[in-house]
Amino acid sequence: MNSLMVKALAFSATLMIATVVVVKYMNVDLSDPINYITILGAAAIAFLTFGVAAKYINQMKTDKSTGELANESWDGIGEYKNEMPAGWAYSFLGTIIWGVWYWFSGYPLNAFSQIGQYNEEVKAYNTKFEAAFANPDQATLTAMGESVFLVQCAPCHGETGDGISGKAHDLTNRMSKEQVLDVIAKGSNQLGYAMGAMPPMLAQGADAEAIAAYVAGGMQGAAPAAFATCTSCHGADGKGNNGAAPSIVGYDETLISNVLEHGKKGAIGAMPSFKTRLTPVQEKALATYIQTIKG
Ligand code: HEC
Ligand code: HEC
Repeated sequence: MNSLMVKALAFSATLMIATVVVVKYMNVDLSDPINYITILGAAAIAFLTFGVAAKYINQMKTDKSTGELANESWDGIGEYKNEMPAGWAYSFLGTIIWGVWYWFSGYPLNAFSQIGQYNEEVKAYNTKFEAAFANPDQATLTAMGESVFLVQCAPCHGETGDGISGKAHDLTNRMSKEQVLDVIAKGSNQLGYAMGAMPPMLAQGADAEAIAAYVAGGMQGAAPAAFATCTSCHGADGKGNNGAAPSIVGYDETLISNVLEHGKKGAIGAMPSFKTRLTPVQEKALATYIQTIKG
């Protein structure tokens, strides 16, 4: 290791120790040391800035040109071959190392943080919420699902779930022909079913059209022959073999919770994941409510 690196490590160690000392051992109100550290840091930066500026202003007044000139000359204006200032170099490297430490484990040594408090309060509330609705009946779920839907989903899917003229998925109908054709051609690997990905299918042209029309039409009447290639995974009834693959005839709980957890990108566009925003009961409520939306 060269001496620059040693100095950089020493500098970052100094910063880490200073952080620990300020947070743990100085007589600070530990419930909120952030303002204190910020003011201290700001004072140190202001102090250093004045010091360095004063040094250079002084040097500009008195400095004589010395040192070795580089070969380049721009209309007679030359440039000295100066070493990179060592102090700058090691404090630059050292601050980066300290910054990584601070980001991942130092901040602020597990003392109070507003974000942490917020997360804990949300978690505590969610536990209470889940307990209050541990065994909800269908009517409660439907009502809860509708109110969550109107706030979280209606902006894209529309108040009635019709997808606002193709802006988002039309929830009054399982899938359009275009969407099914898109999945047949490209496969799908985003919903997190235990089975994993669906590979692109070989069906093309008239075969693919026939399958897509059959699925989009709600699988009424006789299945086209080519649909046989789908049944091993999705089941002859299209319901997905008890959650192994998605149901392609309706919205069941597994499909809704997978879409909410993972989000979805498809022929229409992208839907964000709601993983951190909904509790399991709310996901179940949405699944119940969506099954009541009919065209
Ligand atoms: C090897 C098993 C397998 C076969 C065969 C298969 N699928 Fe799939 N399919 C899946 C899986 C698994 C998924 C979910 C993939 C994911 O995580 O995105 C899926 C997803 C889909 C989706 C998207 C559902 C949604 O909500 O986005 C459609 C539509 C679909 N399949 C239709 C078909 C059709 C039509 C066929 C026959 C031509 C077919 N699949 C054949 C396993 C299969
Ligand atoms: C930012 C807009 C947006 C929001 C908000 C949104 N969605 Fe979506 N959603 C989409 C889009 C776009 C698609 C269609 C993706 C595709 O297949 O191209 C979609 C697709 C779906 C599907 C069909 C999935 C499938 O596999 O066929 C369901 C179910 C769904 N959304 C439910 C919801 C629920 C429930 C909410 C509220 C918690 C919600 N969405 C909020 C944009 C949104």
